[in-house]
Amino acid sequence: MKRSTLFVTLVGLAFAGSLSSRADPTAGWAGETSQRPPRTVWSGVFTADQVKRGEQVYQQACTYCHRDDLSGGFLDDGVGKAPALAGRRAFDSSFFERWEDATVRDFAAAIAATMPQQKPTSLSIQAYIDVASYLLFKNGMPAGASELPIDVEALGEILITRQK
Ligand code: HEC
Repeated sequence: MKRSTLFVTLVGLAFAGSLSSRADPTAGWAGETSQRPPRTVWSGVFTADQVKRGEQVYQQACTYCHRDDLSGGFLDDGVGKAPALAGRRAFDSSFFERWEDATVRDFAAAIAATMPQQKPTSLSIQAYIDVASYLLFKNGMPAGASELPIDVEALGEILITRQK
């Protein structure tokens, strides 16, 4: 798939696909004869190097509003408040209340479609996926041997769950 096509697909999914797949997180698994259990974010789905790249993306494009320590804060105009992206108050509730049973595809697509807030979709797909890995890592998920791929279908098979 061409990068530009992939980009449109990812962003489109943020608007069209994520709601339905969140309502039924097993869609795509039900009825399959595959013996693999669904992969989750607890099985080492990104690498430490990817997290490092994601941290650089974060520092360039996200700290201005979400702060170095991901604790969030008010914007300069005092109107919008950027939510915390890790910790107990992450996303103004908790990371898992917001994203449990979504897939990493939903998560990355939502970030790409809406962030950075002044300039959504302005980063590369690789940068969005790397920064997603950084946010997962900061919410307690472990690094492993393989990177989160630039592959919508593969990302759509990785579930965000509370527990391993
Ligand atoms: C100009 C300020 C600003 C910048 C820069 C910014 N954000 Fe945000 N972000 C916000 C605001 C405000 C919200 C809450 C409103 C919304 O969701 O649009 C938000 C919401 C979010 C959410 C959704 C939280 C939830 O409710 O699930 C995520 C994830 C996120 N930002 C990640 C990022 C990432 C990653 C970057 C860098 C690529 C970034 N943001 C850059 C202001 C910003």
